[in-house]
Amino acid sequence: MIEELEKLKQEISEFKAKSTEELEQFRIKFLGRQGVFKDLTSNFRSVAKEQKKEVGMKLNELKNLVQNKIEDFTSTDADSDSKTSEDFTRSTAGAELGSRHPISLIRREILDIFSRIGFSISEGPEIEDDWHVFEALNFPPEHPARDMQDTFFIEKDPDMMLRTHTSSVQSRVMKSTTPPIRTVSPGRVFRNEAISSRSHCIFHQIEGLYIDKDVSFADLKQTLSYFTKEFFGKTEIRLRPSYFPFTEPSAEMDVYWGLETETDHRITKGTGWLEILGCGMVDPNVLTNCGIDPKEYSGFAFGMGIERIAMLKYQIDDIRVLFENDVRVLNQFRGA
Ligand code: DAH
Repeated sequence: MIEELEKLKQEISEFKAKSTEELEQFRIKFLGRQGVFKDLTSNFRSVAKEQKKEVGMKLNELKNLVQNKIEDFTSTDADSDSKTSEDFTRSTAGAELGSRHPISLIRREILDIFSRIGFSISEGPEIEDDWHVFEALNFPPEHPARDMQDTFFIEKDPDMMLRTHTSSVQSRVMKSTTPPIRTVSPGRVFRNEAISSRSHCIFHQIEGLYIDKDVSFADLKQTLSYFTKEFFGKTEIRLRPSYFPFTEPSAEMDVYWGLETETDHRITKGTGWLEILGCGMVDPNVLTNCGIDPKEYSGFAFGMGIERIAMLKYQIDDIRVLFENDVRVLNQFRGA
């Protein structure tokens, strides 16, 4: 086999494609489904044990050689073929660098914090059905709680809508996964709200979900407290009783922001406290709806708006700043 490989090596090294078609034939010959490497890999099984290492290394070397040939051609010859005049030796100094959008920065930072404590990342569709957005989450039809969110429905199919919250991903994950579940779900959400300096029709949320045996409210508090400390560098939180159809008990989490500056006074309305997110213990009905036995499992959930958190972190007063993509604003996030 070694001999065969040596021969192939010579063939590949000498190959020079004159056209894209020739290159494609070369690719198919070696890497195609019935190509040379396919054969070689099956022959490899019968190579004597002592030779496996050497033959394996040679095989890899050959494969790289083929791939390099293809890449070299694609990045140079192909361009001259199509008469574009890219100069690959040109210096990149002075080229404009982009920047990440503040929403992306905050999303990444939040996801990072939760992944450090074992949360996975999950996503769901933006166009969602009634069951995942409302019904599974304990909003029965005609329930007044649906009024809390002004939904954009899809005209042709009244069962479909733009999701109003990322809690819909909760229903998806619970339905498809056997606990333990520990996941955070970022995404865009849509509400038919008047555009003011505080609200917008499209915004972003991050949802969190933790389901396992014996999960308690203390676990919820501990997790959120860790998050707040990591993200804002603040250590004091409080949980105020609240209401959401999908959690029982439900709470809103405030962080103690402080009252040191005039801005602190303004944004906390003189209280020092800022509301950050909604949370609670997943309602047993929700677990049942999603096929999880509430006698065996319990869990908590939380949800936060990324814009709100970005505004707090970067001290932005008007949410529209985050959507207009004014380069004078975006440039301030360069290198962040
Ligand atoms: N879905 C809620 C909203 O959009 C936010 C939320 C509150 C999510 C409490 C949760 C939760 O998971 O437990 O306002």
